[in-house]
Amino acid sequence: MDVMHNHDLKNLVYALTYSGPLILESTDGKYRCSFGICKIKDGNAKEMIKWHFHKSEQNKFDEIKYERRMNSYVVGRYAGKLAVSEFSAEEDFRKIAIHNGIINQPYIISDSIRNVQISISHCNDLGVAIAFPDELLMGIDIEKIDPSKFVFLKSSLTPKEMDILKKFNSEEDILFMFWTIKESLSKVLKTGLTLPLELLEVKELTQHSAVYHSCFENFSQFCSVSVVSMGYICSITFPKKLKLNIDDIQMHQKIIESIFLEL
Ligand SMILES: CC(C)(COP(=O)(O)OP(=O)(O)OC[C@H]1O[C@@H](n2cnc3c(N)ncnc32)[C@H](O)[C@@H]1OP(=O)(O)O)[C@@H](O)C(=O)NCCC(=O)NCCS
Repeated sequence: MDVMHNHDLKNLVYALTYSGPLILESTDGKYRCSFGICKIKDGNAKEMIKWHFHKSEQNKFDEIKYERRMNSYVVGRYAGKLAVSEFSAEEDFRKIAIHNGIINQPYIISDSIRNVQISISHCNDLGVAIAFPDELLMGIDIEKIDPSKFVFLKSSLTPKEMDILKKFNSEEDILFMFWTIKESLSKVLKTGLTLPLELLEVKELTQHSAVYHSCFENFSQFCSVSVVSMGYICSITFPKKLKLNIDDIQMHQKIIESIFLEL
């Protein structure tokens, strides 16, 4: 087995991976969630499928024609398996099958795991995922900052979001942040970006050291946290009643940066 997980931070044969807990707290108690991240090395999707995926996932993979999709299928799912394993202590990744539901939403099939949901995002050879209990609703999205998309992203903002944008120096980061915040909300809602974008309007965006907080004009039940790291923006949307421990996020971010920047 060449891919290691659960806090193993080595530069591995097929991929670089990391997983860790995410604690969400409310006045009623704590929810233990988790996240996973996987960066595949060139041309290793088939090896990973062979050794670490469930037969049903291997069959789906065999139907994929394009290499780009092979990679995204593998990195997103592998990040999902890392997150689910961290959440549930199931160590055999072949026993955690991740499928797509009727509108492509990801879900878990496993004999050994109950009460877990996931959200997945991928960007080229990088995949991220969160696992969380059935009681919660969460979504994740990651994007690489790409200057060729700035004009489009700016044109997608509402007047209120344009005002928010002006308060920040790092316009490029914030443009992508708005987008990932909306995509992560759309995954919580399970609609994807089939809704008019204005409905997903961001109401407030504030920065607390390296972590950004936001909330929504029309979905007051939810809020998001976003981080900028290694040329990527990642946002997680979750119920506003809960608080995500920012120190944990920053610690994970530091570890991930120290390892992934070497790849
Ligand atoms: C869902 C959506 C927001 C994903 O965003 P994206 O930037 O394209 O891709 P990401 O890498 O961030 O996320 C992809 C993952 O989102 C998840 N996803 C897809 N549909 C979802 C839904 N309805 N609800 C929650 N999650 C969903 C999947 O796990 C997918 O990864 P997988 O296919 O490898 O399992 C976007 O595809 C969308 O708006 N879809 C709706 C419109 C649509 O179906 N268009 C057809 C595209 S061909």
